[in-house]
Amino acid sequence: VKRIFGGSLRRKLLSVMLFTTLAGLVVALSTMIVFDLRDYRQGWIDDINAHAELLARTTAPALAFDDVRVANENLAVLRFRPKVRDAVIYNARGLPFATYAAEGRSTNVPALPGPDGTATDGRSLWVFKRIVDGGQILGTVYVRADYDLYDRMRSHAAVALLVVAIAMLVAWAVSSWLRQIVMRPIVAISDAARMVVEKRDYSRRVDMHGDDELGTLVGAFNGMMDEVQGRTHALEASNHDKILEVEERRRAQQEVMRLNEELEERVRGRTAELALATAAAEDANRAKSEFLSNMSHELRTPLNAIIGFGQLLAAADTRTLEPQRSREFVSYIVNAGRHLLTLINDILNLAQIEAGKLTLSVEPVALSDVLEGCRVMVEAQADKRDIRLLFPMSVDAIVDADRTRLKQVLLNLVSNAIKYNRQSGTVVLDCTRTEPTRLRISVQDTGHGMQPEQLRSLFQPFNRLGQEHGGQEGTGIGLVLTKHLVELMGGSLGVNSTPGVGSLFWVELHAQPPADAPPTETRAEPGANSVTDARGGAADGRGAALVLYIEDNPASRQLVSSALATRRDVRLITASNGKEGLDLARVALPDVILMDNNMPLLTGGEAQALLKADPRTAHIPVIAITANAMPAGIAKGLAAGFFRYLTKPVDLDELMGALDSALAHAGVSSPAQPSSAGDDSTSGST
Ligand SMILES: Nc1ncnc2c1ncn2[C@@H]1O[C@H](COP(=O)(O)OP(=O)(O)OP(=O)(O)O)[C@@H](O)[C@H]1O
Ligand SMILES: [Mg+2]
Repeated sequence: VKRIFGGSLRRKLLSVMLFTTLAGLVVALSTMIVFDLRDYRQGWIDDINAHAELLARTTAPALAFDDVRVANENLAVLRFRPKVRDAVIYNARGLPFATYAAEGRSTNVPALPGPDGTATDGRSLWVFKRIVDGGQILGTVYVRADYDLYDRMRSHAAVALLVVAIAMLVAWAVSSWLRQIVMRPIVAISDAARMVVEKRDYSRRVDMHGDDELGTLVGAFNGMMDEVQGRTHALEASNHDKILEVEERRRAQQEVMRLNEELEERVRGRTAELALATAAAEDANRAKSEFLSNMSHELRTPLNAIIGFGQLLAAADTRTLEPQRSREFVSYIVNAGRHLLTLINDILNLAQIEAGKLTLSVEPVALSDVLEGCRVMVEAQADKRDIRLLFPMSVDAIVDADRTRLKQVLLNLVSNAIKYNRQSGTVVLDCTRTEPTRLRISVQDTGHGMQPEQLRSLFQPFNRLGQEHGGQEGTGIGLVLTKHLVELMGGSLGVNSTPGVGSLFWVELHAQPPADAPPTETRAEPGANSVTDARGGAADGRGAALVLYIEDNPASRQLVSSALATRRDVRLITASNGKEGLDLARVALPDVILMDNNMPLLTGGEAQALLKADPRTAHIPVIAITANAMPAGIAKGLAAGFFRYLTKPVDLDELMGALDSALAHAGVSSPAQPSSAGDDSTSGST
């Protein structure tokens, strides 16, 4: 059933039509045939009974009179009924009395009469009828006729088939016509719908056909398509807007994410910086604590020597103590004192630098002199460890630097190179120009070098990178000071080191171009060259230079007196307080004045101010010799116009150097004094 009624709508329609037609025909035809066959059968039964009755009546007298002829004549009438095949009349005893057989037909009559009634075998129909007259049975009539029930059924069936065939043909024709008018619009709608589904083409419309239900359907479909198209357009427009919006949001989100990442990156950076800063601060703190304990140790060690040997000397019996022994004790005390002084100076320098109060006087300096000075100072130290010093033969460079500080820088680098070298190693100092106005001084050693992590802490104050327990003296300030000083002179300091091979420290400074060197060199050497020029003239013209020392402490006066007593070119006069000194200066007009600061009546600073204010004494260079070693005091003194500012305990070499400079400044000669340690602690020039 499914196969028959399935498939397309057309097929369904056709199947339904044909099936309906077929069903109608079968019902109608079979009813007709059944009724017809029943009528046919009944008609035959009635007909044959009527014949039998008629024969019984007409034959009754013949039987009564035993007239066979009449009986046969009566039977012969049957020849007008071709369907009757044969007939028999039996007498009362049941024997055939008269017989009839249709012409040309074989007869097969029953020998005895059967009971009254009709019977059939499908091909023939027969009847037995008793012949009764006056209540007496005279005999029996038997009539048999052809009964063509099957033929009739066959012919009916043929007709029915023909009718069915024609009806089906008509139904098929009608259905295709129906299809034409009913299906076309539906197919068009279905095509349009398929296009919509497959190609999203909402512009398809179906042609209108009439105003029946299909027309309405088509109209409704077209209307629906209008609606769908309209809505689709609206939807697409809104979709487009949505896509733009989504895109916009996506971009905004990306931007937010980017900003977020940037922020995170910055936070990470800041956190790292903070961590570094914290670590650095902690390191510095640790280093400072270590320094304090170091410092305490460093200070106590020389003090221990000073006090110990001092006590020994004080307690010793001068008569029994050998002079050589007492000289030895004194030399211990002096060395320890010097060491203490260096230490204190270093710390003061560092404090000054860190406070931003250290002022340098940067001027053109002949490098060769500074190098020579350094070499002389470290030679002994190098010899002790059998270290070879290789310095350049001749250097004619002029660098812009503070002479004293440059020396301090190079001394620290070279002394490090010696201290941290191996026994019998080598130190090479070299000068090269990296640019026409840039000079690099490098100090290379063959020592144990430094590990990368040591290099990272190299410039931390007081950090001795594990050398605290090594054999070399030091405080771990040298390189820090050195770096600061180089930078203050407008230069830079760098280091390369290979563990086990050695280190190379270099300093780069601004240098005068080679062609400009000679004229600036003379300017750079007031303490050496100009003095040499002036020496002869001054000595010849004026004899010994006059030096006034104003000092209230007799011991100090005695010390300077003893020291200057060795110099022929200087004559010393002294005053014991500021007031007296001022008066003496105005009268004697010395070439140079040495001035203590802390004095009764008039302090050194006040006296100096008054000297400056007086036109007669204003030109005289005044060298301060004071116990105020604080950076602020020194800076103040230099600012007030002191020529030099020496701090107590005064280093005699330094004093001589300062005096020479002052004499040269005043235009007075002096025999050249070794000025190697001359300007170590403080310096300033007018
Ligand atoms: N040329 C070098 N070779 C190997 N290590 C060095 C060298 N120069 C410096 N160092 C290391 O760096 C540390 C710091 O040097 P720095 O000059 O600042 O201090 P110091 O020599 O220990 O003491 P000072 O303050 O007396 O100079 C030294 O203790 C040493 O461990
Ligand atoms: Mg050092």
